[in-house]
Amino acid sequence: MKFEKPYIILSAAMTIDGKIASKKGDPELSDLIDWKHVHKLRTDVDAIMVGKGTIIQDDPKLHIKYYNHNGYTRIILDSNLSIPIDSQVINYKPEIYPTIICTTENATEVRIKEFKKRNISIIKSGHDKQVDLLKLMPILKKKGINSIILEGGGTLNWSFIKNDLIDEIRLTIAPWIIGGKDATSLVEGKGFDKMIEGKRFNLINVNNRDNYVVLNYKRKRE
Ligand SMILES: NC(=O)c1ccc[n+]([C@@H]2O[C@H](COP(=O)([O-])OP(=O)(O)OC[C@H]3O[C@@H](n4cnc5c(N)ncnc54)[C@H](OP(=O)(O)O)[C@@H]3O)[C@@H](O)[C@H]2O)c1
Repeated sequence: MKFEKPYIILSAAMTIDGKIASKKGDPELSDLIDWKHVHKLRTDVDAIMVGKGTIIQDDPKLHIKYYNHNGYTRIILDSNLSIPIDSQVINYKPEIYPTIICTTENATEVRIKEFKKRNISIIKSGHDKQVDLLKLMPILKKKGINSIILEGGGTLNWSFIKNDLIDEIRLTIAPWIIGGKDATSLVEGKGFDKMIEGKRFNLINVNNRDNYVVLNYKRKRE
């Protein structure tokens, strides 16, 4: 049977040395022009997805600014439903931005009820420690989610790369170097042993302005 999944666009801003936040978790890399591009991209997709780490670290609203839009779905990956219930993503304009938390069978009924009371939809995917992405993708597709902007962080990006689920990358390189082995990189996780195991992408477009470079890649699948 054909594996059905939404089209996935990984979107991120990173420093010249590949960090998406400082070692203290400061993610302020984008300038206004870059933010506007990111928000434009958000208007073009059915959903945005981030990992629990990004919710806890940044407490984002994951909304859309600067453009007219019809809203979209916010998708959070949280294996034990442990993000704070007062997170902005749970409470900010749910009528425009419905939210789904994707979790595992390990999530407790008590916690599920708490989130459902806030009109959050819950999808359980898998029995392992973390959300099973291969099971999740067809479920999201069936719900009518045909395209997703994946906004990290590094741990979730790795899971998508490992499972070869990314179709396109939009990457801004911001003009500084921050260093720090504890600063989150664009892709974290275990990594592959050899280059040949890595996923290859074709460079589709390069844009540069004001010291920022925006790279657009598409997955090269043989
Ligand atoms: N510059 C940028 O463009 C940008 C964009 C986004 C984020 N960031 C930065 O990235 C940092 C957060 O990154 P992070 O790596 O710490 O966290 P993350 O990738 O946002 O979230 C990772 C967490 O998601 C949960 N998860 C559930 N299922 C998963 C799966 N199948 N695969 C992977 N994770 C899964 C796991 O926690 P549980 O197991 O507990 O569920 C995991 O620890 C923040 O500092 C943020 O500012 C930067």
